[in-house]
Amino acid sequence: MTHDPTPRPIVAVLGIGLMGLPMARRLLAAHFEVRVWNRTASKAQALVAEGAQPATTPAEAARGADFLITMLPNGQSVEMVMSGVDGALSTLGEGTIWLQMSSVGVDWAERLGHLAEGSPVTYVDAPVSGSVGPAEEGHLLILASGPLDARPLSAPILDQLGRRTYWLGEAGAGSRAKVVLNNWLVVLVESVAETLEFTQALGLDPQALVEILSDAPIGSPYAVAKARQMLAGDFSPSFALKNALKDADLALEAARQTGTTLTITNSFIDSWHDVVAQGLGERDLSVVYSSES
Ligand SMILES: NC(=O)c1ccc[n+]([C@@H]2O[C@H](COP(=O)([O-])OP(=O)(O)OC[C@H]3O[C@@H](n4cnc5c(N)ncnc54)[C@H](OP(=O)(O)O)[C@@H]3O)[C@@H](O)[C@H]2O)c1
Repeated sequence: MTHDPTPRPIVAVLGIGLMGLPMARRLLAAHFEVRVWNRTASKAQALVAEGAQPATTPAEAARGADFLITMLPNGQSVEMVMSGVDGALSTLGEGTIWLQMSSVGVDWAERLGHLAEGSPVTYVDAPVSGSVGPAEEGHLLILASGPLDARPLSAPILDQLGRRTYWLGEAGAGSRAKVVLNNWLVVLVESVAETLEFTQALGLDPQALVEILSDAPIGSPYAVAKARQMLAGDFSPSFALKNALKDADLALEAARQTGTTLTITNSFIDSWHDVVAQGLGERDLSVVYSSES
């Protein structure tokens, strides 16, 4: 009987939501030993059936892990799962790399870095660009930042999750890039919604307009996909409006701190908050179209 003596690296994934699920699944498929923890344990059951080890607390997931991935909504929730007696930092040991991949914004990326400073782990700030489809296919773009020696060590994990990792500098640079990209994203989605409304107001067929956009360099594949989703009225989430709105707010806060004015984002942020207040925050962000039409 052959026996593989090489222990497989252990990866703990905290947060099995829209993104955490396909990311953990890719790591399982790549034969890492994957431990999963989710606040609502039932959402991790499919992964457990596929070979992941369930943990009842973040601390249990993190014990002895080589890598820890956090994929949670915001900085507060990441801090919560990392801290306290059941928090991951209580059991993580020397040499563990913490890949913080949630979109937490500029201030929280710094705060989480400070949290890691008092522990033996290496903190890598590595939010991602790309949604559920790219996460399933390992085609995310990873906006990584952190110490030089963490780069080659993180590569086996990040290479499974993304089609390219951009190393942008010291920890925090990834989250700064992420707020810029997501500001771009929310502006684009608002523009798509407004464009469809304008098209219809002019008595044109919006489907025909989307066809033209799909054939033109000005129509990005993402914008065209969102336009089709809006016209189909299919708001099943690949990126929840509440998370996109959180990112828009993080961008506005980062801009305020640097004395930059994000005029476009400021012009629609209140209406997006209204859509969330109507109870649509769990729907895909393309649902903002329904409030315009
Ligand atoms: N979806 C996208 O297209 C996309 C793309 C790039 C980046 N991101 C970013 O990636 C992160 C995760 O996004 P997602 O789409 O996977 O979010 P999601 O589907 O809303 O999942 C969030 C996860 O966090 C857990 N959670 C929520 N609040 C928590 C708390 N207070 N304590 C502990 N766990 C908590 C949820 O657990 P329960 O199951 O118990 O609710 C769930 O597992 C966010 O920062 C998002 O902005 C998302």
